[in-house]
Amino acid sequence: MKWPRILQLLAVLISTALGYRTAHFDLQRYNDFPDFQTYLVRTSRDNPGIVRLLHIGNSHEGRPLLGVMIGKPRNHKKPMVWLDGGNHAREWPAFHVAVYFIEQLVNNYDSDKKIKMYLDELDFLIFPVLNPDGFVYSRSDYKATIRHWRKNRAPENCTGTTASRKELCCEGVDLNRNYDFAFSQSLYPFNNPCSDEYQGPEPFSEPESRAVRDFILSPQINGRLHAVVSLHTHGQLLILPYNSRRRTYPEDFWQLKELADRAAEAMAGLRNTKYKVKYVYVIELPPDMKTWFAFQIKPHWLIPIGKETWSGIKVIVDQVIREFVDK
Ligand SMILES: *[C@@H]1O[C@H](CO)[C@@H](O)[C@H](O)[C@H]1NC(C)=O
Ligand SMILES: [Zn+2]
Repeated sequence: MKWPRILQLLAVLISTALGYRTAHFDLQRYNDFPDFQTYLVRTSRDNPGIVRLLHIGNSHEGRPLLGVMIGKPRNHKKPMVWLDGGNHAREWPAFHVAVYFIEQLVNNYDSDKKIKMYLDELDFLIFPVLNPDGFVYSRSDYKATIRHWRKNRAPENCTGTTASRKELCCEGVDLNRNYDFAFSQSLYPFNNPCSDEYQGPEPFSEPESRAVRDFILSPQINGRLHAVVSLHTHGQLLILPYNSRRRTYPEDFWQLKELADRAAEAMAGLRNTKYKVKYVYVIELPPDMKTWFAFQIKPHWLIPIGKETWSGIKVIVDQVIREFVDK
């Protein structure tokens, strides 16, 4: 729905006078995809002065890929920071921690000088769920093959194999492997539709990864993005590029490493969670690697994990402000 300009202005005035507030979202439990959808729609509608809804495309099954842009509109093109809850279906805590970030930015604009400065100087792009079909599917049954689903829900491909069978039909593509960077560097398991890490028939074969590509390359975003953090579970790791091949590093590896070390230190401040800094960052949230298949930690941990992760994100955002905001 498009509001007439005058109503939009009125809404901005009213929401500014009342202070900014996110819509209700219970971070003490795991929510379903429609809860995320309602939250993003309502939060942007209720806070038009600083939040805009982003709808960058649709999934295979037609669900919207939604996010928010948070920041005070300015006359110049502001530097941007991208935060996402990742695209692995079973990694529910990551989606919720992305909502925690939205809460911090919107609800503290009036009370926290640092947050106000963030939103005055930068635009945040936050996408809690970039694989809605997989997420909905993973919530549909307790059976491990469903609850631990990782990929999207691309229609079945019957060229799959397992150790004992050939020509098996399996659904889904691992969206993390579907980008064009280092696509198809190894044949197994990335080229097997029955693998959890199936890359898809070609780069960007999936509507979900295409939508992210097209949005990031759009004129609105191009050249403005200075930090990208993708959340996953689990392992307590900060992962730096590149991971496609051993011992290959980007030119600015030491800068990435130094900042990651500082972020990890900040994240240990709250309850002594020790992040191992491995090699634009992927953060594998708690718990650590000692527990197998612990993708969905007990939901009472969502807020503590959100809190400690946010302290690391702030270290990264501070660096973006130092380097990319004109003083
Ligand atoms: C099925 O998977 C194989 C292996 O990745 C691929 O070559 C083929 O194009 C796929 N078929 C379809 C219809 O996606
Ligand atoms: Zn993941």
